[in-house]
Amino acid sequence: MKNIVLFASGSGSNAENIALFFRDNPDVEISYILSNRSNAGVLERAKNLNIRTFVFDRKMFLETDEVLSLLKKSDPDLIVLAGFLWLIPEKMVKAFPDKIINIHPALLPQYGGKGMYGDRVHQAVIDNDEKESGITIHYVNEKYDEGDIIFQGKCAVEKGDTPETLAQKVHLLEYEHFPRVIQQLLENQ
Ligand code: GRF
Repeated sequence: MKNIVLFASGSGSNAENIALFFRDNPDVEISYILSNRSNAGVLERAKNLNIRTFVFDRKMFLETDEVLSLLKKSDPDLIVLAGFLWLIPEKMVKAFPDKIINIHPALLPQYGGKGMYGDRVHQAVIDNDEKESGITIHYVNEKYDEGDIIFQGKCAVEKGDTPETLAQKVHLLEYEHFPRVIQQLLENQ
């Protein structure tokens, strides 16, 4: 049995999509969805999916070992950040080498780093007249968006695209590829 722990800060449509993808797979379990926001949409989705949740604040995350202990107890094969906005502390990265992955809504190494999330990313892509954008799935290290790239998928940026329309295209890429890439990583372990 493979075991995934998801982290999400927001609406959680990716987390839900991943959970639905694996729902009928007896070999893969989503053991927890963890969030840093007690009112995050992902918690409602988790409840509907019958997945355990755990909410933590910045102090718990950075100054205690509560989250780290929970992770160690869950013994995940993969930790998946699906729209999680905080930097992962070094001790966590070190505790799970090559087991933490993130999805970023642009083609790294461009348009990443601290503060580059959500519509800010898409606005920057549009402001720079890029012809394409997309998604990057990558390993997580101690720096924002700098770990080794696992997969990139592209979409066109068209005239008239707004951060909202670009976000929609990027979300479609995320839904298509993220669960598939996770499955591949689990199979290759
Ligand atoms: C996604 O676009 C993801 O790439 C980014 O945050 C967004 C999360 O969306 N890091 P959702 O919460 O999964 O709907």
